[in-house]
Formats: sequence, structure tokens, C-alpha cells
Amino acid sequence: LDNGIALTPPMGWLHWERFMCNIDCDADPQNCVREELFMEMADVMVKEGWKDAGYEYVCIDDCWPSHKRDAQGRLQADPKRFPSGIKKLGDYVHARGLKLGIYADVGTYTCALYPGSLGYYDIDARTFAEWGVDLLKFDGCNMPDWHQLGEGYINMSRALNQTGRSIVYSCEWPLYEWQYQQPDYEEIRKTCNQWRNYGDIYDQWTSVKDILDWTADHQKLLVPVAGPGGWNDPDMLIIGNFGLSHDQQQTQMALWAIMAAPLLMSNDLRNICPKAKELLQNKQIIGISQDPLGKQGYRTFKDDNFEMWERPLSGDRLALAVMNRQEIGGPRRFTISVGTLPSWQLCSPKCNVTQILPVYKEMGVQELVSKLVVQVNPTGTTLLTVNPIKNNPEDIL
Ligand code: DGJ
Repeated sequence: LDNGIALTPPMGWLHWERFMCNIDCDADPQNCVREELFMEMADVMVKEGWKDAGYEYVCIDDCWPSHKRDAQGRLQADPKRFPSGIKKLGDYVHARGLKLGIYADVGTYTCALYPGSLGYYDIDARTFAEWGVDLLKFDGCNMPDWHQLGEGYINMSRALNQTGRSIVYSCEWPLYEWQYQQPDYEEIRKTCNQWRNYGDIYDQWTSVKDILDWTADHQKLLVPVAGPGGWNDPDMLIIGNFGLSHDQQQTQMALWAIMAAPLLMSNDLRNICPKAKELLQNKQIIGISQDPLGKQGYRTFKDDNFEMWERPLSGDRLALAVMNRQEIGGPRRFTISVGTLPSWQLCSPKCNVTQILPVYKEMGVQELVSKLVVQVNPTGTTLLTVNPIKNNPEDIL
């Protein structure tokens, strides 16, 4: 969507995968969906380096509203769990230099059966703008007639635009349309800043693998439509939770950067292990994710339980991920014959290779005849960047 924002994939935190629709604040005050949860996340994001690393949006998902609209037909927050209201929460988040995301649904009800926006797009867009909302995640449950899905998403896009406020518009249009037909991605890119294509992520390696496989299988369709202002969204980062090993967390981080995916973490930043934190805040990986060229990467090779993914970067650089999908045995060696890879022509006459994952390591100057050997742990990923050496230092002397 050409609204001047989301020129690189949005970064932040979203409550859904980790906290879901936990509304039992009496029994579980620390983990229920209430204003304190978002205030506490905003606080840690500032204190613990998340904001400095680039994570900016604090996002509310489903289950925030009251079951009843107010007398003017406006959505209102659940009065028990959000007694200060969303505007106040927005002020709180903004005062910390962060941005606020909210959630609504294109149909009659949200997936968790809170009020939907069908028939209220203009009112809801205006309400969100008045509250100071900076991102809207617009779900696609409970649309009475699926033919109107596209119309609904387009109308909400228009309504948001008419408020005059810059609001990142996060859609689930293609995900819901795939059930009936192949989505029109040109239209989706014109309408949304990011869009979910595939099912919800859950806290397991099988889920991450499944999303990667689906994305690679559809990359011909998906990769060309991604770029500044519009991104394919493979769903939240689940790094720092319970289901992934450290190698698998490295794989998610590396591949989400390669895929130019929005980086919306869904974890408990108040209590996260140092290794997960270090991975999520890794400057080199975030640099790949946020590369200004804004090209989405893709799978270039799959054989012998190895996968190779590449992402073209600005400055004629390249990011390359090698994933070991063999889930038996130990680390395996993978040999990259530099000259055989079309995208590695940048290594002529010479290039500089840096390993970013599993650990940072300079791999030195390479040329087309070089063979690079990397070690990859089972379900893990080795992430490299390749940088052209444009001027031969001898020429300058
Ligand atoms: C379905 C979406 O895909 C999820 O990300 C989440 O927003 C839930 N709905 C909330 O009900």
C-alpha cells in the first residue's frame, strides 16, 4: 500500500501467539489481555534494548473490546480489563517513543466472537485514528459472503486513508481467500501494508517448517509482490517461548529476515532467556530484515535435506541461509562452490563473506573458484552475507 509507511518490514510485538484470548484476569492477572500487559511490554521494550534494536509497534490482537458497541456505534475497550481506554494506552506507548497496534475484523464478529467491523468500517477507522492507533491488524473471520472479502478489505483501506492518520494496515485477506480461490496479489499489495497468506503459527518446529515449505512452494507468486510499503507476513516470531530449540529459533530469525517478513514477536519480554534476546536483537540479522532495497528472498536449492535461501541486498550484497533439515544425526557440512551460483557473480573478482549465524565469524575474501564449507546443525541455519569488493586495494595504491 502506497501510504508512505512500512518502507521496511514493520517490527514490534503482538500479543496473540503467547497470550491468546486469556481474559481471566482474576485468576491470571500477569498473563491476561489487559492494559497492564501492553504497558509492561512497552516499558521493557524501552528498558531492555528492544526499541533501540528497532522493535517499535506494541500490538493488541483479538479479545480487547467490550462485547457491546457504545451508543454512537463505536467500539469500546472491555471496561474491566482496559479501564483507562485505548486512547490512554496509546498515549502511554507514544510517551515511550513506541507505536500502538490494534485489531479488528472485516466480518460480523472477530474470530473470538467480539464485535466485527462489517457495516462500521468508517466509524471504526475514525475511532482508531482518534485513539492514536498506528497499526491495524484486520482479521477475516465471519464474513457472511466470501465474495465480499476483497471489497471489505479495500473499503477499510479507504476508510483508514480518509482519517488522514498514518496507520499500518495489516491484512489477512489472502489467507481467507485461499480457501476459495487464488488471491489477486496485485490488488492486495495496493490495499495493504502487509498480509497473512497462511495459517496461524503455533509454538512448535513443525509449524515453522510448514510455513517455510508453503512460502517456498508459492514463492513465484509471493516474492514479486513484496517491496517497500507491502510485505508478505508469515506470522509472528515465536522465539523466546517454549517450542523451539535454539537452533530452530536461529532458523526462524534467519529465514524471517531472508523473507523480508514483518518481525512481530509474540513472547513474554518480561521474562525471556538471554540467548533468545540476543538472537532477536542481533544487529546483523535485523540489518538484513530491514535492508532498504526491500526485496524478498527465496529458496534457491533443495537437496539432500539441505535448503539454500538467498536475499538480494542493497549495495549489490547478498544474504544466504543454509538450513539443515535432516532431523537425525549431528551437524553436517555443506559446500558452497562459489562460481556455480548465479547470484554469486558478485564474487568476481573478489567478495568478502561473513557468517552471522550460528556465530559471527569473518570468512575472508573469496573468489569464483572458492569453495566455502559451512557446518549446519540439525534444524539449524547458517546465515552468511556476501559483500562485493569493488576496488582492489592495490589499484588505489
Ligand atoms: C486468526 C488470526 O490469524 C490470528 O493471528 C489471530 O489474530 C486470531 N485470529 C485471533 O482470533
